[in-house]
Amino acid sequence: MSETKKILVAVGTRPEAIKMAPVILALRQQPWVSVTVLATAQHRQMLDQVMAAFGIQADIDLNLMRPNQSLPELTSRILLGMDEVLRERSYDAVLVQGDTTTVMGVALAAFYRGIPVGHVEAGLRTGDIRNPFPEEMNRVVAGRLSTWHFAPTPSARQNLLSEGFSEQSVHVTGNTVIDALKTVASRDLEVGVALPADKRLVLVTSHRRENFGQPLRDICSAVRELVERHDDIHVLFPVHPNPNVATVVEEILGGNPHVTLTSPLDYLPFVAAMKASYLILSDSGGVQEEAPALGKPVLVLRRETERPEAVAEGVAALVGPDHEAIVREAGRLLTDPASYAQMARGASPYGDGHASERIVSILATGLRA
Ligand code: UD1
Ligand code: UDP
Repeated sequence: MSETKKILVAVGTRPEAIKMAPVILALRQQPWVSVTVLATAQHRQMLDQVMAAFGIQADIDLNLMRPNQSLPELTSRILLGMDEVLRERSYDAVLVQGDTTTVMGVALAAFYRGIPVGHVEAGLRTGDIRNPFPEEMNRVVAGRLSTWHFAPTPSARQNLLSEGFSEQSVHVTGNTVIDALKTVASRDLEVGVALPADKRLVLVTSHRRENFGQPLRDICSAVRELVERHDDIHVLFPVHPNPNVATVVEEILGGNPHVTLTSPLDYLPFVAAMKASYLILSDSGGVQEEAPALGKPVLVLRRETERPEAVAEGVAALVGPDHEAIVREAGRLLTDPASYAQMARGASPYGDGHASERIVSILATGLRA
């Protein structure tokens, strides 16, 4: 019988936990692996709610979040905290997911200790190192430090091959976000927020650093104009707790009777909100992947995307944080049924719901050889 392998799975933020949960649960089914779940807790409340939704508890919790944390302080705390963990215990592999500061910091800490890294959701690129900031650099750095690249799509794989990674190290697995979504989406879910039943629901989220300031103000003023122009819609906007987001959203949209601002929704209620919505406006990475899988048109509040597949399929459109473009494109979808039907036909270019199984099987081959 071969020896048990020790894998440390790191998560820091809400989207990492959602996308890593199916991998953690799949690894836990394997007799050959002992899994340690580490939370950097770059996010606190938003991480905790996702972990609870999937019934996962962190074995190690670095509890790093601070109010309005800066990138240098967060990065240093992750490196120091991780090195302490990796110095005390030996691991055969470390898994990270996505493009946050946690991913970059954990991958670097593992590299310093000579531990191979598996990168889930590898190879996403806009090609513009400052956009999204700092995520494009985080995923480039995490990629350089990784042994296994779990690319969600063929185009992500191609990005990695173009950067010189070997064919053997890059695996197209699909995105685990679809695994997570499939485990919950068929359930009878409740949004848990009082919303007018006679209006079409428009769901909005925004939190990208490059949208802080005027771009976020333009997004919010576009939302305000949309509810003024279309009296049959109601907007639900779960507001990210980052103070750079919350203060602006509250200032421009707070008190508007056609807009419901809430705290971030827990994952299951948020999936319910996506399902209940007519249209989604978002600068989120995960939402760009989930909306098409649920047949919901998504207008992407960014100028570039590392997720070009849904745009290419015509089920997502890049409108940028641009007041005029948002009002025009959302208005078109709200008033032109043919345009709407075209975008709402649904597509799932990001996965088939079996990405975690593929990742586990690749790790089994790599670690047990
Ligand atoms: C981070 C990621 C971003 C990801 C996003 C997902 C980086 C640099 N950014 O951005 O890539 O898309 O998470 O949501 O890694 N806060 C809370 N409670 C929480 C979470 C955040 O109060 O549960 C507040 C805190 O004041 C915190 C601030 O939000 O300091 C910013 O959190 P941070 O993780 O640094 O950045 P995000 O904007 O959340
Ligand atoms: N999400 C959630 N509650 C919310 C908003 C989003 O559970 O109020 C989920 C959403 O379903 C998706 C993930 O959070 O899976 C996306 O996270 P976020 O937008 O914070 O980060 P990104 O994907 O842009 O990195």
